[in-house]
Amino acid sequence: MTDKAVPAAELYTDEFAADPYPAFAKLRTDSPVCPVTSPRFDSFLITRFEDAKAALNDPRLSKDLYGPGDHYLRIFGPNSAGLNKNMLNSDPPEHSRLRQVTGRAFAPRRIEALRPRVAEIVSGLLDKVEPQGKADLMRDFAIPLPMLVVSELLGIPRTDNDNVLEWTQVIRESGSSGRPPAEEKARVQEAQAWLHGYLQDLVTAKRAEPGDDMVSMLISACDEEGVLSERELVSTAFLLLFAGHQTTADFIGNAMVALLTNPEQLALLRKTPELLPHAIEELLRFDGPLPVASPRVATEDLEYQGVRIPEGSIVGVVINSANHDSAQFEDGDRLDLTRERGPHLGFGHGVHYCLGVSLARMEAQIGIGALLRRLPGLALSVPVDKLRRLPAASPFRGLIELPVHFTA
Ligand code: HEM
Repeated sequence: MTDKAVPAAELYTDEFAADPYPAFAKLRTDSPVCPVTSPRFDSFLITRFEDAKAALNDPRLSKDLYGPGDHYLRIFGPNSAGLNKNMLNSDPPEHSRLRQVTGRAFAPRRIEALRPRVAEIVSGLLDKVEPQGKADLMRDFAIPLPMLVVSELLGIPRTDNDNVLEWTQVIRESGSSGRPPAEEKARVQEAQAWLHGYLQDLVTAKRAEPGDDMVSMLISACDEEGVLSERELVSTAFLLLFAGHQTTADFIGNAMVALLTNPEQLALLRKTPELLPHAIEELLRFDGPLPVASPRVATEDLEYQGVRIPEGSIVGVVINSANHDSAQFEDGDRLDLTRERGPHLGFGHGVHYCLGVSLARMEAQIGIGALLRRLPGLALSVPVDKLRRLPAASPFRGLIELPVHFTA
């Protein structure tokens, strides 16, 4: 076992972007708590299941990155400040307040009521795709589906959807445009500024004319109940917009690749559609969209696996490595849709456990179910190793394009 620091550039190679799981397996064996150095910030990666689960629930690992060291600024850059005061970046008791306000809108009954509308959005997207015999499943399906759902939830007018989508994609795809790094960084900052301005304008519009949507609900928590500040209101809307579509889009893309490259599993699912809810959990374990949980900072000196993590260090809990740990999941690198359902970490763990879990499951079940039903003979149009992916160092694991063909 070694706790030798790895330069980020050595870890995050093109090979890693295509398939990070061999590197994760090596880390779990050789360096389960691995220091990683990078020009912007150093961190520790936690890669084994038991440690990852413990770390996600460890109150000594704070999500409040604004304290000494200005970690938030170092990690996310300027312009993010107006968008970062939300539950994901706070600790209890502040976290509990922020989560409670938003949690009302995610009550299972409210989410279940969305089922027919989600099915309608899925049908509408597939009506356009079906006659063509080919598609880019990211552009034509996986990205617009959760974006349309979350936009409706938030109360974003349909006429604004294209602009919002365009700017959120600039953030999602950062690092993959081929532009020089300085230009790329400037464009991400421009996107953050645009979204900040857009959400502020949306709040102003909803204040004047409230609706039955989440932004109006957050405004009333702010204005009438006084439990939310203006900055928290805009930051929460941003979190919901981003968390609500990015992860689900990448998950649907990753899940389809996993199925299309494991034909026996795909055939099993087609033959046994009632397996779908179970299959969704296994697909999320197998290749989730958030490889590393959002950054945490050590509030005191810690020790995991005998490795000292000094106070002030940034810690990344590697969900996608933990979910392949064979100490927890037998033959963890294998996709097995009949695998006994285990407690994977794909939706996180502890107080920051995904708030949108019911909605995410519903969208994935309806979306993937419909793709399999309505696109017979579905197959990748390029070899799997030629798929264009988000860069290795991206916080998200996902595809830029997913070209497929099928029988029209
Ligand atoms: C397949 C889709 C999704 C996956 C894999 C996923 C995964 C996660 C994970 C791992 C976390 C914890 C992050 C951490 O601890 O650093 C999280 C938090 C969160 N997710 Fe999701 N998510 C998904 C979809 C959604 C949707 C659809 C929404 C809302 C519309 C949503 C809203 C949130 C929010 C608000 C948090 C922060 C919770 C908190 O800090 O208390 N997510 N998600």
